[in-house]
Amino acid sequence: MDTRLPAINTRRLGPGAHAIEAAAAMLTAGGLVGFPTETVYGLGADAADAAAVARLFAAKGRPHFNPLIAHVATIEAARNEGVFDPVAERLAAAFWPGPLTLVLPLAATARTCELARAGLDSVALRIPADPIAQALLARFGGPLVAPSANRSGHVSATTADHVLDDLAGVIDAVIDAGPVPLGLESTIVACLGAQSLLLRPGALPRATIAALLGHPLDEAAHAAREDDLSPLAPGRLASHYAPRARLRLDATSVAPEEAVLGFGLPWPQGWERASARCNLSPNHDLTEAAARLYGSLRTLDAQGAPCIAVAPIPPEGLGEAINDRLRRAAAPR
Ligand code: TXA
Ligand code: MG
Repeated sequence: MDTRLPAINTRRLGPGAHAIEAAAAMLTAGGLVGFPTETVYGLGADAADAAAVARLFAAKGRPHFNPLIAHVATIEAARNEGVFDPVAERLAAAFWPGPLTLVLPLAATARTCELARAGLDSVALRIPADPIAQALLARFGGPLVAPSANRSGHVSATTADHVLDDLAGVIDAVIDAGPVPLGLESTIVACLGAQSLLLRPGALPRATIAALLGHPLDEAAHAAREDDLSPLAPGRLASHYAPRARLRLDATSVAPEEAVLGFGLPWPQGWERASARCNLSPNHDLTEAAARLYGSLRTLDAQGAPCIAVAPIPPEGLGEAINDRLRRAAAPR
């Protein structure tokens, strides 16, 4: 929590129609409201209101060079914000609403303010599939920026409790609709030139996108450099998604003072002596592991172990995004 901000009373809203109404009114008044999406909880603000967006950056402690995703309800609203080339149109038709974000050249009609875009002449857009997110966007009637609803650099929020743990006192409300289904942020693809490029692996597997395109989806060369702050991948900070504890990846054994994050069975050697343990998926299911990743990191972190030993996780499918988040959570801070 940013102590320079005056503390406000954060309301927890139920998921019904009344909550949508109340949340939309707060957003129209320049407020900050956490809401569920199918990927993670987002922290919403009016994308067109620079003062609201400034408050959002402050509430998260987010650096201003890291631009936000504008969420919209319909493809028409998206075309108002960004310029779609034929590939972007195909990706949107295939995967929206859903866990895909497209980075596109800014449209002349865009309402997403410059601060939200970190001054870039591109804009990140997504139509979320979650029914509450959809209802909120429809009721609000304009684009909402929504970064993950956590303190900047901390583990993303997959329940309303996570949102309140990080942001109570600095946001107006959160709509509580229980745990999100996917648990990993959207996959980000840039369609800015001749070739579409992967900027962030996420809940939509790279292979699924490549199958639609009919060719491999390359990672942006700049995005591959973890410390890169180039316009194409401004938010790809090395240290991100980080719990308080250190993370030790690809662990095949566990020391007694460590907590253990398992995947499948058997557990890493020495697991029975670990100070705390969670298994992302005893059945070795990457979809289940993705849904449990951030909650498990928060749970283990709360036990106070200095280090979390993480079992190896296969790189295919959703494993690419899970390993990406774990590497960033493990990076030196
Ligand atoms: O699933 C998600 O994407 C969630 C939910 C709430 O929708 N949102 C989310 O937002 O993960 P956030 O702010 O945590 O991540 C947004 C990412 C950042 O890495 C940022 O750098 C990138 O999107 N981004 C935004 N605008 C961009 C732009 N114009 N060019 C390149 N990257 C951009
Ligand atoms: Mg985030």
